Amino acid sequence: MPKPQPELLPWVPMVTTYAMACCHFARVRFCDGCQLATDLQAKASLGETTHEYLDIAGSPIFNSQAKEPIFGPLMPGLQSNLASIQTVSGTGANHLAGPFLARYLCPTRVFIPAQTWINHRSIWEVAGVPVAEYPYYSSATKTLDLAGMLNALATANTNDVVVLQACAHNPTGVDLSQSQWRQVADLVRRKSLFVVFDGAYQGFAPGDVNGDAWAVRHFTENILASESTTHPGMCVAQSFSKNFGLYGERVGALHLVVPPHLSAEGVQVTFSLQR
Ligand SMILES: Cc1ncc(COP(=O)(O)O)c(C=O)c1O
Repeated sequence: MPKPQPELLPWVPMVTTYAMACCHFARVRFCDGCQLATDLQAKASLGETTHEYLDIAGSPIFNSQAKEPIFGPLMPGLQSNLASIQTVSGTGANHLAGPFLARYLCPTRVFIPAQTWINHRSIWEVAGVPVAEYPYYSSATKTLDLAGMLNALATANTNDVVVLQACAHNPTGVDLSQSQWRQVADLVRRKSLFVVFDGAYQGFAPGDVNGDAWAVRHFTENILASESTTHPGMCVAQSFSKNFGLYGERVGALHLVVPPHLSAEGVQVTFSLQR
């Protein structure tokens, strides 16, 4: 069993209440009248007292709260650079990122780790983007193959996509150190690549929610500080399945960090039209 994460506790009521309220709706409404009052109370605590449609991008309250654990102290300066939608867990977030980026970014390739969560390859194949692998784990040294990773990513073209697991890499368990993340971030910036961070395990790696968000926040800071008009931005596919134990409720979000020369409002609209 993973250790309880004190830093995650403030978000537990929000995410679990949301999941209870929305995902059990059909059962409650049609099968179990006694439960209705409880679930309505849960919805009411989110300021939602009806079962009308949500925004096409999902619950605005959920979307706003979901940003906090991953972007943390960057949030105040990030508001106008962030577009977010609620997704069917982390799998749904990855699945929305694929076709969205295939259509609007037109990458020539997507780079995934040589060993990774099995669905990365199929998601991007379905999106119609040629998949390339970058070396990740060296079985000889039992550590990260940073040189192999950087060499492979150096062959990428502008606007190509790089899928990076934010922490607790599945399946190797090997993560980058902060200095290694910095080297990848420099290369990404130099070559104007688009990173999709897959964050399915925030709070699981060093036992520190903020430590697990370090890479996402570092890349985000780079984008915000960028004066380049070629930096394409970055996505975070966020899952609450593991860290909140909400496997069955399928709770996740997709965030897009928009560089200063582009409009997050425009992306938010396009995100919604895409669904
Ligand atoms: C790296 C990675 N990304 C995404 C997911 C999918 O997350 P979810 O269960 O929330 O769909 C997983 C699940 O195992 C995963 O390991």
